[in-house]
Amino acid sequence: MNRVHDALMSPLVWDLGHIAAFEDLWLCQRAGGLAPLRPDLADVYDAAETPRADRGDLPYLRLDDVRAFMDAVRERALGVLDAADLSSGGDRLNGGGFVWEMLAQHEHQHNETMLQTLALAERGVYAPARRPQPAAAAAEPGGRDETALVEAGEFPLGAGADGFAYDNERPRHEVDLAAFEIDRTPVTNADYRLFVEDGGYRRRGWWSAEGWAWKKGEGVERPLFWTSDGRCRDFERLEPLDPGLPVMHVSWYEADAYARSRGQRLPTEAEWEKAACFDPSTGSKLRFPWGDDGPGAEHANLDQLAFGPAPAGSYPAGQSPFGALGMVGDAWEWTASEFAGYPGFAAFPYREYSEGSFDAGFKVLRGGSWATRPDAFRPTFRNWDLPLRRQIHAGFRCARDA
Ligand SMILES: [Fe+2]
Repeated sequence: MNRVHDALMSPLVWDLGHIAAFEDLWLCQRAGGLAPLRPDLADVYDAAETPRADRGDLPYLRLDDVRAFMDAVRERALGVLDAADLSSGGDRLNGGGFVWEMLAQHEHQHNETMLQTLALAERGVYAPARRPQPAAAAAEPGGRDETALVEAGEFPLGAGADGFAYDNERPRHEVDLAAFEIDRTPVTNADYRLFVEDGGYRRRGWWSAEGWAWKKGEGVERPLFWTSDGRCRDFERLEPLDPGLPVMHVSWYEADAYARSRGQRLPTEAEWEKAACFDPSTGSKLRFPWGDDGPGAEHANLDQLAFGPAPAGSYPAGQSPFGALGMVGDAWEWTASEFAGYPGFAAFPYREYSEGSFDAGFKVLRGGSWATRPDAFRPTFRNWDLPLRRQIHAGFRCARDA
């Protein structure tokens, strides 16, 4: 808990203290009007002030102290909640429960970050008890290589005005998309292994200039957790590559090169969201690919308990109206889009969360992973990271103009 497992990640105990400090800031201080519980810790746990690489040197609380701090903050926060006016007539933070949902979401996002750290930690540091995966649905004739055709037309991109969503998901706005095809399922380990065996990491023509420079500079020859003898590292395990699982822990550059090798491309985030949530039979947008009800166990691998993706195509009940499978859960999916503000963007409730990352070379990921909590997930949610990063629980699928 106290150790730095990877230079890219915080010590786990920093994430815990940061979760509590953020809760004290937004729920107890901003929403509840209380004085800071531990003003001396404000700088230590300010994510914007302390780059991850430096966090190992900070005077952050160690495990016993951080647990006591978390308990004390939670008790204060629950006291504020008892007195808060969450009606839509309340102030902008409390009204509709906005800031309370934001804090639940924030904690769950850090849970996923902590799982990234544990996946990167030395083998044996963490050996999770895994929920069994469902079997993959029997492939239809033509199988999972099929693509879904999404007709041309307008589509309302982003989150509506009601309920909690981050500022970067708003405002919802119409985008006019040309017709395109998108893979019904994510690219699998078997697919990606063919790319590797076909010289994927040696053929300059399949890579962008930046991607090739990154690959050469880092000496990358395969996805992050693959070994040279055909196995895959998965927390404490080291087992033969499972061909049916979505390929994961590839950078945007690798995803882009794979798509180019097939004469295809990554979907834009607008294409991704339309393929996931638009119902052409009614011309309306669904809250989730399968309908308006929140995620259930039959819809997606999204509960943080499986500790890995399910075989591609495992959740037929989670299919989108266009026939796309696995859009939610299992693996985040890299998109072609750079992270930027939607037209009419307004920062709320704080500038640093989104705006500081706009137009700065970050690529958008969509769809959540097995390490995302279901009650913190929306298909309009925009994750982002640099195109060279591989610690995210991310894979991809391909698209092409129709
Ligand atoms: Fe945070």
